[in-house]
Amino acid sequence: MILSIESSCDDSAIAITDIETKELIFHKRVSQALEHSKYGGVVPELASRLHTEALPKILDEVKEYLPKIKGIAVTNEPGLVVTLLEGVTMAKALSISLKVPLIAVNHLKGHIYSLFIEKEATLPILVLLVSGGHTQLIEVEDWNRFNLIASTLDDSLGESFDKVAKMMGLGYPGGAIIEELALDGDENRFKFPIPLAQSPKMAFSYSGLKNAVRIEISSGNIKDEQFKRDISASFQKSATQHIVQKLKKYLKNSSRKFRYLGVVGGVSANRYILSKLEETVADFNMGVVSPELQYCSDNGAMIGRYGVELYKNGVFQELKDVTINSRAEY
Ligand code: KG4
Ligand code: ZN
Repeated sequence: MILSIESSCDDSAIAITDIETKELIFHKRVSQALEHSKYGGVVPELASRLHTEALPKILDEVKEYLPKIKGIAVTNEPGLVVTLLEGVTMAKALSISLKVPLIAVNHLKGHIYSLFIEKEATLPILVLLVSGGHTQLIEVEDWNRFNLIASTLDDSLGESFDKVAKMMGLGYPGGAIIEELALDGDENRFKFPIPLAQSPKMAFSYSGLKNAVRIEISSGNIKDEQFKRDISASFQKSATQHIVQKLKKYLKNSSRKFRYLGVVGGVSANRYILSKLEETVADFNMGVVSPELQYCSDNGAMIGRYGVELYKNGVFQELKDVTINSRAEY
């Protein structure tokens, strides 16, 4: 079994995955969202302290499995330096005491492998990673071949949801709150711009849209519930159209064909976005796959699942070689 640890942001998580069957033997996540919500976003030092409390408690619950552990997988990049450090330190200590190898896992690859928790990986696949930190389109050819097609020039999609929610005093994280409000909103009331609509660039951008929403909010009445619903729906519509436009552009122009679009990361919990993506790829004879809801946001199971691939391919690290890289890509 592989024991995996995730602490790249505001979730403390540990999982245990069977190497042969991929079965998820144990997984637990302690979210810090409530603690950070009063600050309207993640406070790194607070997150770090909360990891030092939560991780040992979760570890206590998996003691019985420790004799069967063959490797320790841990997120070492990308993420917040002070929080990554908590997971990596625990992983190193476990690797020494259990005398098993360390497996450093890239968080983004972990999100991609959230598609394959308790399953065999079905590759190749086109993946849209939409989280609080990233907005990316990736061609995934194999366990170690990731071809980044597009990423964001500024804010990520999840971040833009969080910021719009914050502007309306709705708490953190804002994604699910905005989606819920949008259900009863008029998405055509406000005509927000679709980012990079006229640009040939294969890239994403959310700061301009966010600013347009900010201007509309500042001239409206945020005490009015319907106003908030309509802002949410109109914002969500433009944010989604931006992704759909760029995805269509890729699908039309690329000679590389895929059967499935995998949608991963926290924002893949959004039903509205998923349904628009389904409509879009259907025209290209593709289907959409996404992880179970509980594995959309950060978790230890996805780190363990990718850790299994690395273990099977003999990719281990010496203790001294596992370093933290806050801005890593593939
Ligand atoms: O993947 P994740 O848990 O953490 C990162 O690695 O960033 O993603 C968190 C992000 C937050 O920005 C949150 O607002 C967003 O995912 N999110 C959503 C929804 N649920 C979570 N965004 C839009 N709609 C949702 N239903
Ligand atoms: Zn994440």
